[in-house]
Amino acid sequence: MVFLGDLLVESPSFVSVSVFADAFIGVNIGTDITDIPSPTDIVALLKAQSIQHVRLYDADRAMLLALAHTGIRVTVSVPSDQLLGIGQSNATAANWVAHNVLAHVPATNITAIAVGSEVLTTLPNVAPVLVSALEFIHSALVAANLDQQIKVSTPHSSSLILDSFPPSQAFFNRTWDPVMVPLLKFLQSTGSYLMLNVYPYYDYVQSNGAVPLDYALFRPLPPTREAVDANTLLHYTNVFDAVVDAAYFAMSYLNFTNIPILVTESGWPSKGDSSEPDATPDNANTYNSNLIRHVLNNTGTPKHPGVPISTYIYELYNEDLRTGPVSEQNWGLFYANGGPVYTLHLTGAGTVFANDTTNQTFCVAKNDADTKMLQAALDWACGPGKVDCSPLLQGQTCYEPDNVVQHATYAFNAYYQKTGKSLGTCDFKGVAIVTTTNPSKASPHIHNYLLVNFTDFINNFFVQNKSPKILKQFLAI
Ligand SMILES: *[C@@H]1O[C@H](CO)[C@@H](O)[C@H](O)[C@H]1NC(C)=O
Ligand SMILES: *[C@@H]1O[C@H](CO)[C@@H](O)[C@H](O)[C@H]1NC(C)=O
Ligand SMILES: *[C@@H]1O[C@H](CO)[C@@H](O)[C@H](O)[C@H]1NC(C)=O
Ligand SMILES: *[C@@H]1O[C@H](CO)[C@@H](O)[C@H](O)[C@H]1NC(C)=O
Ligand SMILES: *[C@@H]1O[C@H](CO)[C@@H](O)[C@H](O)[C@H]1NC(C)=O
Ligand SMILES: *[C@@H]1O[C@H](CO)[C@@H](O)[C@H](O)[C@H]1NC(C)=O
Ligand SMILES: *[C@@H]1O[C@H](CO)[C@@H](O)[C@H](O)[C@H]1NC(C)=O
Repeated sequence: MVFLGDLLVESPSFVSVSVFADAFIGVNIGTDITDIPSPTDIVALLKAQSIQHVRLYDADRAMLLALAHTGIRVTVSVPSDQLLGIGQSNATAANWVAHNVLAHVPATNITAIAVGSEVLTTLPNVAPVLVSALEFIHSALVAANLDQQIKVSTPHSSSLILDSFPPSQAFFNRTWDPVMVPLLKFLQSTGSYLMLNVYPYYDYVQSNGAVPLDYALFRPLPPTREAVDANTLLHYTNVFDAVVDAAYFAMSYLNFTNIPILVTESGWPSKGDSSEPDATPDNANTYNSNLIRHVLNNTGTPKHPGVPISTYIYELYNEDLRTGPVSEQNWGLFYANGGPVYTLHLTGAGTVFANDTTNQTFCVAKNDADTKMLQAALDWACGPGKVDCSPLLQGQTCYEPDNVVQHATYAFNAYYQKTGKSLGTCDFKGVAIVTTTNPSKASPHIHNYLLVNFTDFINNFFVQNKSPKILKQFLAI
């Protein structure tokens, strides 16, 4: 109750945008994929997973048509290469809006336009026209009477925020004040939000050990390791909150205290090269599962408890055509064929999730392990290891798919479970690894992928939690 009072004094509009709107989880859809699924297939996956909010990196016509009449909320993007033209010409902007937005609403529920992506940190030459681009796009929406339902903003990299810990001392790179000040004025006057990409993975990797992995993954920290902002005495239990609060403080440094934040990208890669040892399925699963719980709980941040921070996960699919380190291609929740990269464990939402996988671990063969070493380990498990490998024989239940990785996984996991998961029983000379994803569920021969369904989770969660909380906030007012 105290915090609502504080909010009322400090920033009245937070209350109006936050108390009644719950935070949502959305998903980014990148398309640098060899076998890109058709728009119809993509929408089928979204529906099957009950994903209600998506962000596109363009305004692809076929995709927007496929999203029509689905109820899915869509953020479209002005690709960075069209920004210069739009920022220099009101007519070009109006034309873009006519073709990419007006042609699709209301059938397709477009709720926001992301103008460019991380422009100030990646395309500084476009920076001088960035605010004009937002204003021109917005005036076209005003002319069509759509400015209330479609918000205009531009996603920023969190690297724009300097001295981000402690959050109370954070500020936007001063070089960009001439852009940030009019931009924030625009966001404030149009009731829009600051779009921010938040990547605790990079904060962790680039910190050279200063940021504990647990702190990046939202895992509980011993109180002695919690980060405390000495100026505000606020306790930070995870990097995500600290970055979001740094953005709030950076805005208030420029005297803007009532602009909400929308996290346009956040995620964790499930695979990396040898220099990226923390890009693993378990870490990706832990991060995204904890992030989803954190966001849907409307926990807010230490600076603004209870103020929802809606977040788009980066990203729906692994994008195999992306260049750079291996991790770049492995941020997805799904493979292009629609199979899950790992099973999110969204427990903690009450008793509905009877089959809590959070605590379950399995032992699987590493995909990239040497085939001869795998075969040797498989032979050992089925021989001296005393695993019953008869289901792997031709014609038996686990014969298909007939490859050494799948067979080794069967044997490794049987051995691991049989030995009570004791230490060292999932190694097999380095070709095995512990995971929280049940290999028998993820295996293609059982087509029933048991990825926890977003809607079930959200519904179950809110049935349990929403009403009392909202009621409490009503009573507080
Ligand atoms: C479109 O999305 C907005 C924001 O979530 C919602 O308020 C509105 O009801 C939706 N419109 C339709 C037609 O579904
Ligand atoms: C820009 O175009 C919109 C229509 O798209 C119009 O309402 C507005 O007046 C124009 N602004 C300028 C500065 O020409
Ligand atoms: C601030 O932005 C400018 C322009 O992009 C860049 O040259 C400078 O390195 C940035 N400062 C810091 C500390 O990152
Ligand atoms: C913020 O407001 C204070 C008090 O009105 C003023 O002194 C300060 O110059 C303002 N800062 C900016 C960046 O506008
Ligand atoms: C959910 O929010 C409440 C406060 O509203 C907080 O006490 C609790 O720790 C949060 N749970 C999670 C999982 O974030
Ligand atoms: C839990 O697992 C059992 C057996 O695998 C299954 O029959 C049941 O439907 C599952 N329950 C839920 C809530 O997923
Ligand atoms: C995980 O297992 C431990 C020990 O069996 C138990 O105390 C804990 O509550 C479990 N956690 C979850 C989330 O089920």
